[in-house]
Amino acid sequence: MEANCSSSSSATQKASSIRWGILRRALLRRPSPSTDEQSEMSIRRISRKTNHGFNLIPYHLVESHNEENSDSFSKANHLGSSSRDIRICYTLPIDSAPKIFLNQRVDDRADLHDFEICNRFNIDNTGLVCHWPSEDVLAYYCMVHTENFRFLAQYHISIRCLTTQPLFLRSKKVIELGSGYGLAGLVMAVVTEALEVVISDGNPQVVDYIQCNIKANSTTFGGTRVKSMMLHWNQEEISDISNTFDVIVASDCTFFKEFHKGLVQTVNFLLKNEGPSEAIFFSPKRGDSLDEFLLEVKESGLHFGITEIYDPEVWRRHQAFVNSDDSWPNYEKDHCYPLLIRITR
Ligand SMILES: C[S@@+](CC[C@H](N)C(=O)[O-])C[C@H]1O[C@@H](n2cnc3c(N)ncnc32)[C@H](O)[C@@H]1O
Repeated sequence: MEANCSSSSSATQKASSIRWGILRRALLRRPSPSTDEQSEMSIRRISRKTNHGFNLIPYHLVESHNEENSDSFSKANHLGSSSRDIRICYTLPIDSAPKIFLNQRVDDRADLHDFEICNRFNIDNTGLVCHWPSEDVLAYYCMVHTENFRFLAQYHISIRCLTTQPLFLRSKKVIELGSGYGLAGLVMAVVTEALEVVISDGNPQVVDYIQCNIKANSTTFGGTRVKSMMLHWNQEEISDISNTFDVIVASDCTFFKEFHKGLVQTVNFLLKNEGPSEAIFFSPKRGDSLDEFLLEVKESGLHFGITEIYDPEVWRRHQAFVNSDDSWPNYEKDHCYPLLIRITR
């Protein structure tokens, strides 16, 4: 998950000692001894996130004159204090589409409680860190590559430019796995005529944010039912929703090798048996982790296809980053460019 793709062992050792330093200070509740600038630079070096990403859906921090609302919003939803949470407004590039609001953590505000939850639920805290670049791509893909919009105005890419088959979501049941803050699920709920969108994650703190974000946008879903769900991929008991989903989506969820089997089993459980159904994953290769996941998919009897160039705009931006567009330092295809994987029965 490293956004910083330096691989020399001395750099890695340095990064791990920075991490230990941060953890030590958190445990002892001591402020950072370094200057703000030094500390910021250190955190950037070890950060598992990028500040920029593909930036396909423009967003901005909710203005300070709205901060009061933002605070009461957090409190009403039992989320952290206003100093820990921020509210982001996403503007979909579709005429007359409503804005989407996401409550999420301020960068780098992990605390001890987060780690306790991770240990207790056998999960990591990557869903709280940020929304990752693949989620932006998934959200954009669902917006541009669905067969219909609830909003008549067309996005600037016409359907003729599409490089893959469009996703059919009208009257369909859709679930997002490992959704983090749930941007893609919310975008689908807003722009498509899906019957139901379930936004799930295995980290209970993340699920609280999803629930709060669903509530914050509930007037924008038209006839689509939208629910949050705590769904861990090692869960044995998901019989009540087995074989019920037409479409499963997930972004950046294939790098946890220990959960490959569980994730494939979950897809197998959830995908509808009858009629067309498919899972759409966006994942960077990340060394051999994607290949190993796909091996697991194959062994389970499911089928898959990989597409590298699935959207002209995403590909154009990828090429700009590769050609040293400065807006995404350390961009490296293997770790940063999400491939499209379509999984079917
Ligand atoms: C890298 S984050 C990606 C989040 C979001 N899809 C994005 O791209 O911004 C991985 C997500 O998967 C969730 N996750 C990790 N392991 C999981 C598991 N075993 N079961 C369910 N969710 C899991 C994490 O809580 C986190 O939200």
